[in-house]
Amino acid sequence: MVRIIGFFVGLGFVGVLLISLVVNGVDYFRNPPEHAAYYYFHKDPREAELPSDGMAGKFDRQQLQRGFQVYKEVCAACHSLKYVSFYQLADLGYSEAEVKAIANQWAIEVPSVNPDTGEAATRKALVSDRFPSPYANETAARAANNNAYPPDLSLITEARHDGANYVYSLLTGYVDQAGYKNSEGKELLKEFPDAATPPGLYFNPYFANLNIAMPAPIVSDGQVTYADGTKATKDQMAKDVAAFLVWTAEPTLENRHRTGWAVIIFLLIATVLAYLAYRNIWANAKREVGAHGPLDPDYRERMDEQKAERGIAG
Ligand code: HEC
Repeated sequence: MVRIIGFFVGLGFVGVLLISLVVNGVDYFRNPPEHAAYYYFHKDPREAELPSDGMAGKFDRQQLQRGFQVYKEVCAACHSLKYVSFYQLADLGYSEAEVKAIANQWAIEVPSVNPDTGEAATRKALVSDRFPSPYANETAARAANNNAYPPDLSLITEARHDGANYVYSLLTGYVDQAGYKNSEGKELLKEFPDAATPPGLYFNPYFANLNIAMPAPIVSDGQVTYADGTKATKDQMAKDVAAFLVWTAEPTLENRHRTGWAVIIFLLIATVLAYLAYRNIWANAKREVGAHGPLDPDYRERMDEQKAERGIAG
């Protein structure tokens, strides 16, 4: 009896689940879920085509220096670079004296303690220091940026999908929202009148939700004056700072590429050696292997002859 009741209770549950599946399934197809504006109007990054791209990619030291200059003169006002130390700049081709001067003249000072009073103070950066942050902490950073937090840029090209291309596209991607159309020719504000960028945010189709709290940092050609004479167009500055941020995220990228090649070449040689060893080991073995015992054709022939002699059939 208990079994039968149990069976019907179970059947009841299965029935309810089935009904719910059918009802919701029908509803899903009748009223498909609606996507928000970013689903149709978000853009994938454009190619920055940096020299460090690809398996054989290398840094262009001149470009890294230019990118560093853009960081220093534009981005450092809001973004920290807390995993990078001044001494690492030597890797970009600066001399020891130049690195010292850069640290010494850095606009933001490093927090320290006044040795006479024990009170909090600041001092000039040393070569061994990491880049000092523009804000004391996240609260101060948000307070100064309309409650948005400018993330640390040290690892940003690793932290975002398609990092360097993303940074490059984001910096050059600010456009007027009025009349903005996607690649299918649909106009954003006509399709989604409610998606107008709220005050305090800026329209940028490369940003995940289309509205970013960072005002366009690179606004005009010649915003920085490059020491190497390269023309500082907006596109060039965005590319250079993206290249620099690839370096900050992975200063040893060239080493990794070199090691990768060495490993591939080693594996190729090892494969050839393994194949030759295989041929060598089996060469004799194949020649020597033959049928013995009952399977040996000679042996069978002998047996057949003996049987015939003795007059045994089969
Ligand atoms: C006036 C301050 C300010 C300056 C100058 C500035 N940024 Fe920003 N940045 C911000 C703020 C605020 C955010 C956070 C935006 C958000 O979350 O909506 C941000 C976010 C970003 C992001 C992350 C976007 C994401 O996907 O989360 C990147 C990358 C970035 N900035 C790069 C730069 C670079 C490169 C420069 C220099 C060329 C620069 N920023 C200059 C304030 C600034």
